Amino acid sequence: MRKVNPTKTKSWVKLKEHYQSISQLALRDLFARDAHRFSNFSLRFNNILIDYSKNFCEQKTIGLLVSLAQEIGLGELIDDLFQGQKINETEERAVLHTALRNKRINNQNLNVIHQEIQVVLERMRVFSEKIRNGFWLGYSNQPIKNIVNIGIGGSDLGPAMVAEALKFYASDRINIYFISNVDGEVIANTLDKLTPDTTLFMISSKSFSTAETLMNAGTAKKWFLRVAKNESYVSKHFVAMTSNQQKAIEFGIARENIYPLWDFVGGRFSLWSAVGLPIACYLGFEYYAQLLQGAFEADEHFRTAAFDRNIPVILGLLGIWYNNFYGAETEAIFPYDQSLHRLPAYLQQASMESNGKSVDRSGNQVSYQTGAILWGEPGTNGQHAFFQLIHQGTKLIPSTFLVAAKPRCGDSVHHKALVSNCFAQTQALMNGRTKEEVYEHLKVSGLSKERIEKILPFKVFSGNKPTTTILYDQLTPKCLGSLIAMFEHKIFVQGAVWNIFSFDQWGVELGKQLADNIFQELTGSGKKKKACIEDKIGQGDRSCYDTSTQGLLAAYYQYL
Ligand code: F6P
Repeated sequence: MRKVNPTKTKSWVKLKEHYQSISQLALRDLFARDAHRFSNFSLRFNNILIDYSKNFCEQKTIGLLVSLAQEIGLGELIDDLFQGQKINETEERAVLHTALRNKRINNQNLNVIHQEIQVVLERMRVFSEKIRNGFWLGYSNQPIKNIVNIGIGGSDLGPAMVAEALKFYASDRINIYFISNVDGEVIANTLDKLTPDTTLFMISSKSFSTAETLMNAGTAKKWFLRVAKNESYVSKHFVAMTSNQQKAIEFGIARENIYPLWDFVGGRFSLWSAVGLPIACYLGFEYYAQLLQGAFEADEHFRTAAFDRNIPVILGLLGIWYNNFYGAETEAIFPYDQSLHRLPAYLQQASMESNGKSVDRSGNQVSYQTGAILWGEPGTNGQHAFFQLIHQGTKLIPSTFLVAAKPRCGDSVHHKALVSNCFAQTQALMNGRTKEEVYEHLKVSGLSKERIEKILPFKVFSGNKPTTTILYDQLTPKCLGSLIAMFEHKIFVQGAVWNIFSFDQWGVELGKQLADNIFQELTGSGKKKKACIEDKIGQGDRSCYDTSTQGLLAAYYQYL
């Protein structure tokens, strides 16, 4: 694998120079200079349009960014990804979520994997159809009505986001619930609504060792057995999606109820694997297959399109442009589509767990910025919450807007209002409103000159805030599959340019270990019992915890 420090490339140096000149120009100027700016800076893929014309870029910018991608060897890295090279070097794993959605892999080396994937997909199809047709019966011979997915991170966010986004396609017969947080209120409130004999639990954990998931799964099993009484009934109500079959069996899941995934599927890229089983049961396998098809078509676009026409490449490079040259710390995502309200949270994990790294692929500390902070909320809600800061604050926040041309249901006037707001925001963010424009506006409203002068500075919008708009015809399963895959590949492109390993996540380990130590202490189950810490603190021993943690623990005990 090529390991190129991006800042040492010729393109990076040229981009720095180019930044000096283009940063003097306003977005308005860029539009004034080029009558064809919209068509020059927009891309179409199936029924998806990406308008990136309201960004700080000219043809030269895109040319230089594309040269940067070429210099760091992006083409080879894309080949390595699709061909199953072990690009996740720190875990010695290939990264093959793209294989999960490819029905006809044309690569001898991946034949075995391909067959295994097809076997699991077929099992998912059969199982989901049994659940949906009411043929899978619980211990009291009732069909399953409620599916509870227990998982966290990638074993929750993907299926939860997709189920929510596509619930329009779901059958009324099946309810779906997602439990991720270890906060006991979540599982208690969910179980309160359910009865064991019509509930199916899906324990989703690649490792089957994630503390939150195991605790929630244990609570669910106790709740179930309190009523069902008979351990043998567990096999009718618990399935697992995991690569750790042994641990799932030890938990009490029947072997035939275990749906495997593989170590080449990263948690945050796993909704295309058996982790997608709740989606298939809730929507129906046919819709799940369409989701996969949409992702596959986006994969083909990413794999084959020239870089300057390649949506994930352009989106990724623009992100780098803002992050590394404009110094933008965050990027925002605003779905003008309430059904996508979990998309920002989903992308947060996908992006921040992948590219929140500060060591390069040779093990050296990086000297440049990597992954941006990603955040967002659906429109139009965001407009009445934090948009003020984007419009008139001091931070540069490149933002992506998503909206469907056609609603799937609901009043079309509502939808037109939604679309109008989406388009209007990107227009306002770009153009702003000058002092002169504000003055003219206030003059016609009949205010006194004194009053106008007083409030004028507060009403000026500098504008010049970059946005990208993604407009799709309708949010179908296929369209959503393509959108998610494009975002996944955008993350890949950025990790490739930053020369970091995007597919590991060592940064989450330390907190897990420390939480376990404190848990042992709080539950008195380990060596570090309450008495132990109190004695130690009493004796002035500060070896166990820092003084802040000691203070917090002492206050915690006082409150009990
Ligand atoms: O804590 C991080 C993480 O490992 C994620 O990468 C992953 O998606 C999540 O935990 C859940 O892991 P698992 O599926 O193994 O329970």
